[in-house]
Amino acid sequence: MLKDRRGLEASTDNPAALAAFDDMVDGYVTFHVDTTKRLGEALKADPGFFMANVMKAGMALLSLNAKNLDRAKAGLAHAATLAEKANARERRHLEAMQAWAEGDLDRALRTWESILALHPTDLLALRLAHFHYFWLGRSARMLDSVVAARRGWKSDTPGASWVASMEAFGREECGEYPEAEHLAREAVAYDPNDRWGVHAVAHVLEMQGRTADGIAWLDENQGCHAQANNFLFHLTWHRALLQLEQDGPDGLLAWYDTRVRDHSSPLVQALPDLYIDLQNAASLLWRLEHLGVDVGPRWKELADKAEARIGDGSNLFTLPHLAMALAADGRFAAADKLIDGVEAIATPTLGPVAAGIALPSCRAAVHHRRGEWKEAIAALMPVRAELWRLGASHAQRDLLWQLLVDAAKKAGDEEAVSTLMVEVTAMRPVPAAERRPYASA
Ligand SMILES: [Fe+2]
Repeated sequence: MLKDRRGLEASTDNPAALAAFDDMVDGYVTFHVDTTKRLGEALKADPGFFMANVMKAGMALLSLNAKNLDRAKAGLAHAATLAEKANARERRHLEAMQAWAEGDLDRALRTWESILALHPTDLLALRLAHFHYFWLGRSARMLDSVVAARRGWKSDTPGASWVASMEAFGREECGEYPEAEHLAREAVAYDPNDRWGVHAVAHVLEMQGRTADGIAWLDENQGCHAQANNFLFHLTWHRALLQLEQDGPDGLLAWYDTRVRDHSSPLVQALPDLYIDLQNAASLLWRLEHLGVDVGPRWKELADKAEARIGDGSNLFTLPHLAMALAADGRFAAADKLIDGVEAIATPTLGPVAAGIALPSCRAAVHHRRGEWKEAIAALMPVRAELWRLGASHAQRDLLWQLLVDAAKKAGDEEAVSTLMVEVTAMRPVPAAERRPYASA
């Protein structure tokens, strides 16, 4: 039986298929543009390769787009027919993906963790668990999971520096900034194309208010954009936040058009409604408007994408961004439909979070656009301490805190403003009053 790049037994007897699969895993972990192509090569070399078939369905799930769910389920059903050829570890991967397709993310995570307990160098299981902990907002688990698995890695195990970057990001979200920065800088020095490591350092510098350092860091590491997938737009979004803090919004609309939401980019053309791209774009437009910029007709295309995604409960953090886009473009009837769709999300893991947190967040976004400040406060204030359950990072969720503080300020609710400014300050080393988006409050 052949062994993969990290010494785990793989159920293909075709070395070319396994090499392409290993390359695919590396590509997935480093946000490489050719990840899907590499998977195609693995399947071409060995169409019956169980893990490659599991991951083909996994790619459809990773799009976090409801329109790809049936394709994912069909792919998993096909992979199941090949399960006899698979070993126990690989079959657990299928079970995890099946749980994911059913919306049972807790079961999927338990299954990936059970793989990691026996096979800590299963990089795919490790990264998929990291991904889901992130989108569930479970920072402590995101960190613990990597720390536990890393004990099974040696410094020369292929991909070890990428795992260090994953730990770095977990530490950053848990507020352990110096440790996070050290780990991630070391990892990026080892592999300049470790985009998650570049990203982890950017987060540290954002949280610590080291805006000039952050801009310099992202500029120095622009080489990693060359073969990146759409994650590169998240890096340029981060640079925009740093720039916004340092110099204000001047020039950032042009940055938005050419570097964050660049419609001429083949990446955007291939995936025009990718969830993370929609988040980045809506989040930046809202933050620019908040600082007085007229963003012109830019909400319209986002509202088009949002309207087409009504009823899609694949990723909760995306939803308030979609509500923002619809409301900003004046499509309040569509925003109401979106909200009805959020209320209807009934998948096992996300259903309760959709009802409890995503729903009031979407309502608040719409109320804010309508100038209904008191209603926006009434929706968001009671759930603000639970916003982490929407997933994503502190830096991303800050958008909702800005919206809430702005509503409180405009409602003339001084007590709410004071309370919120203390709470926002507690979330990072820099006091809220010293940060541009909160300065006026
Ligand atoms: Fe980020």
